[in-house]
Amino acid sequence: MELTRALIGAWRELLNLCRLRADEIVVILVGDITIPAHLSAARLAVGDTGCACMIVELGEPRIQRIGGDSTTIAAPTALTGNRSAIAALREADLVIDMMGMYRGSEQEEILAAGTRILLVKEPPEIFIRMRPTAADKLRVKAAELRMQAARTMTVRSSAGTELIAKLGQYPCLAQYGFVDEPGRWDHAPSALIARWPDEQSASGVVVLDRGDTILPFKKYVQTPITLEIESGYVRNITGGLDARYLKDYMESFKDPEGFAVSHLGWGLHDRAHWTMLGMYDKQTNGMDARSYFGNFMFSTGPNAEAGGARHTACHLDMPMSSCSLWLDDVQVLEQGHVLAVEQGR
Ligand SMILES: [Fe+2]
Repeated sequence: MELTRALIGAWRELLNLCRLRADEIVVILVGDITIPAHLSAARLAVGDTGCACMIVELGEPRIQRIGGDSTTIAAPTALTGNRSAIAALREADLVIDMMGMYRGSEQEEILAAGTRILLVKEPPEIFIRMRPTAADKLRVKAAELRMQAARTMTVRSSAGTELIAKLGQYPCLAQYGFVDEPGRWDHAPSALIARWPDEQSASGVVVLDRGDTILPFKKYVQTPITLEIESGYVRNITGGLDARYLKDYMESFKDPEGFAVSHLGWGLHDRAHWTMLGMYDKQTNGMDARSYFGNFMFSTGPNAEAGGARHTACHLDMPMSSCSLWLDDVQVLEQGHVLAVEQGR
């Protein structure tokens, strides 16, 4: 009962941060990953605002989801080609996405109509603890300004990471967990800044050390993995069991684009924890790991959501805990600690 009350309270706060007005229309998009407690709480909280609300349920996805995880959502989803549902979503002011749209296609069309889209997948307990605040936005926006102005990103670690990438071709991904502007997408809860590197510009070595995390595997690396990167693609993966597991998984897609370097950035959420991925087995979407303060998140796969041409179902997020990071010649992370200049609080 206490959890239910707290969950409804968190949803009320979230809708308030989304600046939801009584004359707006809300659609809750429901699919096979929807958590029933979220649906109930969101319906109640939306009801309190006076907004018109519609539940759109589209049923099973058209493709098999790998390992039951939603990190790798790719077209076609249950929404793909459903013109009737897309039209309803375009007409809404706020879509609460509890299904998981593919970010590279119909979602862009819906956002272009001015609809705000908020993705929610985390279990209630994590959602309540990490619920977004106005302070998260200030922190992320401060980091976004710096990221937007930068033309290179350099990442180093004592484990052997030495990565450099050019910036400028693609926009930033500034996630603070709520959608307060028309046409904005976000994922609640989260707080992170990232950017897709210029095509073929990422090069060097990334060493995933013991304790670093890989999503969608939702586990901590036990044996270091060395990724050799050249002209924007991972060219070689070596190490022990974890390297073999990662390499085999990526190769299983039979898609060379799955080896491309995707978004790069760092976590800025001060209620997220590195340890939490170990507490929930696979029953988490991993937003703690993606968002905890000072992680460097290396990722591979698509850049279609940033306006690039790369569509691939092979997408991995790999938050690393002890990296140092520079934007141009300004250091923003020191061995996993966010330097004061970026804290914005
Ligand atoms: Fe990602």
